[in-house]
Amino acid sequence: MSTIITELPPDSFVRADDTADAVFYARERTVHHLDSVARSTVEELIGHLIIEDNPVLLDLMASCDSHIPESVKPSRVVGLGLNERELASNSALNDFVIHDLNKNPELPFEEETFDVVLCTVSVDYMTDPRRVFSEVGRILKPGGMFLVTFSNRFFQEKVVKIWRHATGRQRINLVETYFEDSDQFDEPTVFVSRGKPRPADDKYAPLGVPSDPVFAVYAEKKGSYGSSRPTISADYDDRPFEWDEVNARKLDLRNTLECPYCATKLKKVEVPDTPFTEWTSDYMCVCLNDECPYFLFGWDAMSDQGGSGSYRFMYEPSIQNCYLLPVSNKTELREYVIEDE
Ligand SMILES: C[S@@+](CC[C@H](N)C(=O)[O-])C[C@H]1O[C@@H](n2cnc3c(N)ncnc32)[C@H](O)[C@@H]1O
Repeated sequence: MSTIITELPPDSFVRADDTADAVFYARERTVHHLDSVARSTVEELIGHLIIEDNPVLLDLMASCDSHIPESVKPSRVVGLGLNERELASNSALNDFVIHDLNKNPELPFEEETFDVVLCTVSVDYMTDPRRVFSEVGRILKPGGMFLVTFSNRFFQEKVVKIWRHATGRQRINLVETYFEDSDQFDEPTVFVSRGKPRPADDKYAPLGVPSDPVFAVYAEKKGSYGSSRPTISADYDDRPFEWDEVNARKLDLRNTLECPYCATKLKKVEVPDTPFTEWTSDYMCVCLNDECPYFLFGWDAMSDQGGSGSYRFMYEPSIQNCYLLPVSNKTELREYVIEDE
């Protein structure tokens, strides 16, 4: 058996608040953990990957919403979580159990009970994921699927240390490791959805922050199943651009003055007022398109580096230099536009 998890630093699974989870989760939280666009992505993913006609489902670490679309017609859905009122308000559940996985990773179900186990935006709170994944393997039918979905938002005090300090790519690797280390599953598949525009009515929309990213890692329990599950793997790409096009546009930038990432005309903006740089141009050319992928993906990239905000593409015409210009929201810089055609 692989020993990858046990080779991690010994404090990897401690939390800032290591008191009993039952205390923290005693307070009912009816808030959504993802914005509505990201929740739809999770629903679509669940609908796409569940191929059983009337599956028996377990929602592991469940709350008031199991994100199961209408197209899925389960014969039974069981929720396992910590807050009774949240679970009682979840209309998808036929039944629920209150069970603290971090106190006892053994799941209170018979072997081969479920066709599918879902764990949505919660894997980051497991302090002994190896045993929990192994238990999920035990209670799944052969060929049954474990779908683990997560984002980059979490309760800071309850998330395990290794997760808090990881980038999106590292979190994916970690969950793949959980699957592989349990030795119960076929090779896991990765799905990523990032950079979708945030819903207009969301409180963070005015900042220009894109929709919460949705990462998923899923695998089937070893064993024959018959029909095969569709793959819906969006390859993880840390640089989600068409590089040939970007580079071609960069070569022509001097003539076009168009953003290499989105082909939008660059705006002339007053040079940044900084004592550290002597600019050789009277103005800079900046992409202020809020849908530009460079700006949309910048939020994730900055957060992966432990920072905040995003960045705009900037071009200095006199010396033909390209820069990354950090911004904290989408309105920043607009007052310095000197030519707005
Ligand atoms: C961020 S919420 C996600 C809830 C739900 N899966 C969703 O998609 O909205 C985390 C959930 O994990 C559950 N949870 C946290 N720690 C747990 C533990 N030690 N054992 C069982 N459930 C736990 C909490 O009850 C909470 O509902």
